[in-house]
Amino acid sequence: MNAIGLLYCGRTVVIKSQVNVFMDRMKNQIVDGGTREYSPRRSSNVHWQKALIDKKSRAQLKGQRPRCCWLTGLSGAGKSTIANLVESRLHSLGRHCYLLDGDNVRHGLNRDLGFSDADRVENVRRVGEVARLMVDAGLIVIVAFISPFRSEREQARLLFDKDEFVEVFVDTPLDICERRDPKGLYAKARKGAIQNFTGIDSEYQCPNSPEIHLRTTDFGPEQCADEIMRFIEE
Ligand code: ADX
Repeated sequence: MNAIGLLYCGRTVVIKSQVNVFMDRMKNQIVDGGTREYSPRRSSNVHWQKALIDKKSRAQLKGQRPRCCWLTGLSGAGKSTIANLVESRLHSLGRHCYLLDGDNVRHGLNRDLGFSDADRVENVRRVGEVARLMVDAGLIVIVAFISPFRSEREQARLLFDKDEFVEVFVDTPLDICERRDPKGLYAKARKGAIQNFTGIDSEYQCPNSPEIHLRTTDFGPEQCADEIMRFIEE
């Protein structure tokens, strides 16, 4: 069946159709391939199962304070480079951490999503939930996603306890990202070979009050990573 859902997160969007096919497990035959509508909030009869071990005890075992360090910025802004430096530094300090990078997560969990506004909303929603689980496991999570919409970043923030979510604006102006064009994507977007490219024909909304504002025109990746480390380790 094709499932079409509506999600409201600052704007109303239609979630991309998904192909779901019901199988008769006994006969291994397709028994339904129709079209259905569903609400993404389908969990009304599902109850929370309380775990015996909680976030605090998991974090204590690791001897660290779990965090979600969320890097946002244009493609080519330097998010992945800075995020990698931060992860390496935390790792060498013996911290338990994990880097969730937009390009990589789109190879697996989010491989069904493209770059329409609706798909980006869902992309960010999913990674927010994954990051929350990882923080619950006691980890320091570094998220490096364009995450272009303010409302979705704010929704992600709401998943965490106070001071757990650190929004980092990797502030590189569009003309510099475009000049760097490490993957050749800006050139393709200008030629019209890629649609909905952030900064070209898809909007990027800067954070209003990020915990950390990295102006990459003034500081290199190492200094930017230092700044994040100072904040996290304080
Ligand atoms: S997000 O906007 O939904 O948060 P995400 O961080 O997952 O984006 O993926 C961005 C990466 O996808 C970019 O670094 C770039 O390599 C690639 N990409 C491919 N098409 C686009 C596009 N239309 N807009 C932006 N990035 C794109």
